Amino acid sequence: MTPRSRPRDAKAIAHHYDISNDFYALFLDPLMLYTCAYYREPDGKLEAAQRDKVDLVCRKLRFTPGETLLDIGCGWGGLSIWAAQHYGVTAHGVTLSRAQAEWAAARIKREGLEGRCLVEYRDLRDLPAGARYDKIAAIGVIEHVGVPNYPAFFGNVREMLNDGGLYLNHGIHHEFHWKQTSQTDFLYEQVFPNGDLSGVSETMTEMERARWEVLDVENLRLHYARTCRQWAERLQARADEARAIAGERTYRTWLLYLACSSMAFESGSIGLYQFLLRKQWDRAGSAAPTTREDLYG
Ligand SMILES: C[S@@+](CC[C@H](N)C(=O)[O-])C[C@H]1O[C@@H](n2cnc3c(N)ncnc32)[C@H](O)[C@@H]1O
Repeated sequence: MTPRSRPRDAKAIAHHYDISNDFYALFLDPLMLYTCAYYREPDGKLEAAQRDKVDLVCRKLRFTPGETLLDIGCGWGGLSIWAAQHYGVTAHGVTLSRAQAEWAAARIKREGLEGRCLVEYRDLRDLPAGARYDKIAAIGVIEHVGVPNYPAFFGNVREMLNDGGLYLNHGIHHEFHWKQTSQTDFLYEQVFPNGDLSGVSETMTEMERARWEVLDVENLRLHYARTCRQWAERLQARADEARAIAGERTYRTWLLYLACSSMAFESGSIGLYQFLLRKQWDRAGSAAPTTREDLYG
């Protein structure tokens, strides 16, 4: 992995996410979620599975109306918009992609959510020092953080959460002994220049070191295999438009990366985990969920 800096990270994110909003709209769902969906039916459709994923995240975060949400790495704003519309929270999303921030701002305006939902172009490390939220989510962001930066990242997120608050971290992890191969070189050079994955237990150790209480861990690996397969099929079905928008090279590169990712999730060399964490403050009188029953009732 190359050394990290804010400008380098901004360039890496722009390389991947600023290709064109129209290009991503060809294969993503209408909420423009660019992370693992949640298939309640094994052969379910992407649109329903993405709605079910974003709603599962909201239920895990146990929102109550009027709470504040920080949506770190919010992409095109899907979670922030959904949480504001369906759970009455005040959402603040940040993304390092200008194209995403512009698209999200236009949608927020169209949906009449100004004042309840804000998406900004901003590096998560540049949020104001005193910023505090009731709930925080980072969906598909840990892959960009860089493993050596985990202590600072998990510490900063904890700092921004009110006492007893919940944090949902949803991200890709690899099995131990990840080696450099032609596939990983292709990914770093052509697709995710600042991508970096750790093992699930390494990540959890860093979470504990940063004084998070781990409430729940859920493995969604096979859901991501299906999501990537559906993205690849949808992109291929719109090949001519994709070539016209982004060019032959980008179209082929993205098709290859989506197809290879689906196979890697299928085989288990990489996985997807959702961690629900709590900022501990009073172990005895905890307001934390004690069962999972409310999630599925
Ligand atoms: C895979 S996308 C996930 C987007 C969204 N959470 C979703 O579920 O669709 C990763 C996101 O992380 C954002 N990101 C990565 N590093 C960031 C940073 N340092 N500050 C803010 N956003 C960042 C990217 O801009 C992008 O929006």
